[in-house]
Amino acid sequence: MRMIKVKTYEEMSLLAGNIIGAQILLKPDCVLGLATGSSPIGTYKVLVENCEKGILNFSKVKTVNLDEYCGLPGDNVNSYRYFMNDNLFDHVNIDKVNTHVPGGVADDMDAEAKAYEALIDSMGGIDLQLLGIGHNGHIGFNEPTTHFPKEVHTVQLTESTINANSRLFERREDVPTQAITMGIGTIMKAERVLLIAGADKTEIVMKAMYGEITPEVPASILQLHKDVTVILVEE
Ligand code: GLP
Repeated sequence: MRMIKVKTYEEMSLLAGNIIGAQILLKPDCVLGLATGSSPIGTYKVLVENCEKGILNFSKVKTVNLDEYCGLPGDNVNSYRYFMNDNLFDHVNIDKVNTHVPGGVADDMDAEAKAYEALIDSMGGIDLQLLGIGHNGHIGFNEPTTHFPKEVHTVQLTESTINANSRLFERREDVPTQAITMGIGTIMKAERVLLIAGADKTEIVMKAMYGEITPEVPASILQLHKDVTVILVEE
């Protein structure tokens, strides 16, 4: 694991954007695993700028997002599909057909989960997975629990995650209580992992990267991944 400590959110974003950009330059038809939240917004800005400058070409890039809220269609401003279109896909020359976010409104969520896992496999797996981290150590929406969930699945969100994410909703009661997410196994299958975290996450990042490996801190499993880069804004 490589731990890169930086001083500001902007530095974190520039580095993360450049690492993802390098992946696209090295393999123009790569599969990027993408994340939502406040942490990657700056990273996506860097990617958009580098695309506008002609440095990056997204025409062959394929993407798979980590997770989605259950019950929110893609045109809902709080859905992760909306977030991705708004922060990245609408501003780069990616073919939207090649962008994937798990479906939050499927009739059969278990079938949707199975299909999403199969889709990732059929694409040849993820070359680079971008991750944020929750204050309780969650990655994607893999909440602290008694085991590491293997594949894409639906989850019940914890109170702490609902509270943390309610800042982005008009009312707390609008926050969905369930989500569909890549499993820990899905994330661990990625060739390379890039985790970005702001200064408010220092404590949980240290615990996850240097503490006990336990499903109570889902991100701690990353200690066992062969190629993880963590960019942390120093407190
Ligand atoms: C959500 C997402 C996670 C993300 C986390 C942290 O719960 N499902 O993928 O890492 O929020 O978000 P933020 O970067 O806004 O702190």
